[in-house]
Amino acid sequence: MMRNSSKKNSKAQPAQKAGKFAALGSKRDACLLDAEEFLLPTYKRQPVIMTHGKGAYVFDSTGKKYLDFLGGIAVNALGHAHPRIVKVIRREAARAIHLSNLYHNAFQGPLARKLAEWSGLDRVFFANSGTEAVDGAMKLARLHGRNPEESAGTPAKKHRFLALENSFHGRTFGAVSVTATEKYRLPFAPVVPGVEFARLNDVSDLEAKFDSTVCAILLETVQGEGGIYPISEAFWNRARSLATQHDALLIADEIQCGLGRTGRHFAYQRFSSKPDITVVAKPLAGGLPLGAILTTEAVASRVSPGMHGTTFGGGPLACAVALEFLSVIEDENLLENVQLRGAELREGLTKLALQFDFIREIRAEGLMIGIELSVEGAPFVNEAMQRGLLMNCTHDFTLRLLPPFIITKAQVREFLNLFEIVLEKTPKQAATSDSANTEGAGRVAHAAARG
Ligand SMILES: Cc1ncc(COP(=O)(O)O)c(C=O)c1O
Repeated sequence: MMRNSSKKNSKAQPAQKAGKFAALGSKRDACLLDAEEFLLPTYKRQPVIMTHGKGAYVFDSTGKKYLDFLGGIAVNALGHAHPRIVKVIRREAARAIHLSNLYHNAFQGPLARKLAEWSGLDRVFFANSGTEAVDGAMKLARLHGRNPEESAGTPAKKHRFLALENSFHGRTFGAVSVTATEKYRLPFAPVVPGVEFARLNDVSDLEAKFDSTVCAILLETVQGEGGIYPISEAFWNRARSLATQHDALLIADEIQCGLGRTGRHFAYQRFSSKPDITVVAKPLAGGLPLGAILTTEAVASRVSPGMHGTTFGGGPLACAVALEFLSVIEDENLLENVQLRGAELREGLTKLALQFDFIREIRAEGLMIGIELSVEGAPFVNEAMQRGLLMNCTHDFTLRLLPPFIITKAQVREFLNLFEIVLEKTPKQAATSDSANTEGAGRVAHAAARG
């Protein structure tokens, strides 16, 4: 049955639109107008249409070339159109894109084995996205925290979540409930109850908030959206010991920082202990949607068929590509490349920080880099784009670089040359009172926690 949409009827009809397009004169403008008219306004998009990419470069519909230092926000770890990824997609798309989780496919088991080897954990559940993996991990924590004597349907005594200030875990209800940034969470209240936020790297605050009612502490091993803030070793160790002491789970969100981004398979591998659960997504299937929850045998032992599931997660095409992605990282020695190129970038940026006094701080872990400014970051993103360089800005003042793991020494030099011009030419804009009052508040808390 056709739905009667008064909103649609009130919109420009094709003939009217054609007139509008003729004035603007191109198919590109038609696409942009359709987007403006028909999409939910959830993004402030740049007025360009990206059409394709090759390696570390992306091209728009006018043929303009960009050096891609955003990498689809940490998704395109192998850049664009990597020949081995393209080959597997072609081969498997012609065989089976989707089967069903009611049957086995040839790739899910081997991919789970590989992720278990990389992570040191035991069992895997495949989801479709990062946020879905976070929600699943929260369900596992509630399951683990529930005493078998407590009747189902009543709130378990051990049900609270601790998360961190300045965190970002996703947009579904569970994930947004443990996301600290108020503009993402507050419009949707009431969110999942029982969540409390501790200050990043503040061990005493963590100790004060941790008790036997906590079923899990969630943390990003390196905060991404928050502006590239790594968890300190002291904080990780204390979170681990408190979780063990209270029989709660330590959940490491490695959706942005995991799978090689920091130069290790997982960012938590710089510590001597493991989490009970880690969640990954973004680069896992070379740009196809795939997330995963990795956990221990102890946590997995509480799960039985029917408790959790998904239609699309773990499909044969996405899993085949993910297996190839992990093999490419190994075969092309990309962890080493991440470490080497990351060090070169850090060194080059440190030199630029001496030259431009509005650069406050460089925070870098492998190829996850934040450049904190004392002025608004958005104008730099726009200037960079004009000059053929993609990056983004998070929390108003931090420029974020997430280049692909395959970048070369020459591309690092190309970036540093371009970025120097961008730093020089961008009109500097003092912080607006609005941004200072919202995101700025998080930054102040951070400075205090780190200071
Ligand atoms: C650390 C972290 N967790 C969770 C998410 C949510 O992932 P997705 O957008 O795939 O739902 C993101 C996305 O940016 C993230 O950076």
